[in-house]
Amino acid sequence: QWDMNNDIERVLYSAEDIAAAAKRIGEELARDYEGRTPIILSVLKGAALWTVDVMRHMQYSEVEFINVSSYNGGVASSGEVKLVTDITSDIKGRDIIIMEDIVDTGRSLRFMLDMLMERGAKSVKVASLLDKKDGRVVEANVDYIGFDVPKEFVVGYGLDYKDLYRNLPYVGVLKLEVYAPEHQDVVDITPEH
Ligand code: PRP
Ligand code: MN
Ligand code: MG
Repeated sequence: QWDMNNDIERVLYSAEDIAAAAKRIGEELARDYEGRTPIILSVLKGAALWTVDVMRHMQYSEVEFINVSSYNGGVASSGEVKLVTDITSDIKGRDIIIMEDIVDTGRSLRFMLDMLMERGAKSVKVASLLDKKDGRVVEANVDYIGFDVPKEFVVGYGLDYKDLYRNLPYVGVLKLEVYAPEHQDVVDITPEH
């Protein structure tokens, strides 16, 4: 049947859970940055939904979008972080809040933290919907955490497999037969569907 929900093994965080986390963190950021105008740095593509939901609860702030990628749609990090699209504004002396959907190996975040500090950011904090601490390969700390997520491959609410499932309103575990090579013939999700 033509239904993305059928590809999900189980839901980890419902739309309601996520909305509550966005409100909690957005309000916390509004308090912590009172009197300042931070730049919200949204990390495309994954953090698009999380960014707009959190920023609704914040105060004076600017938003910028950066596109970094290392998974290339797959289930494992390639180990190489690519800067697909950079920001054009000057961030020297600014307070930056990086918005991520998930921090896993920490490579993407480490890459951006180093780059922003080198460019002279005044401060850099990180707000991520999911923190997969068991996945860490390099040191990268999340300051505002929506949920600590177990080491499973999750999709939905911005998180993709082959660029699909980002538009699911919840985060869930993808069924093994959808991505395991030995089961690739069972479920066919080629884009021409
Ligand atoms: C995913 C996710 C984070 C990053 C986390 O992005 O959105 O940005 O990987 O993984 P890491 O901690 O192991 O670096 P991805 O490379 O899949 O690009 P996308 O956001 O465009 O899907
Ligand atoms: Mn991403
Ligand atoms: Mg991805």
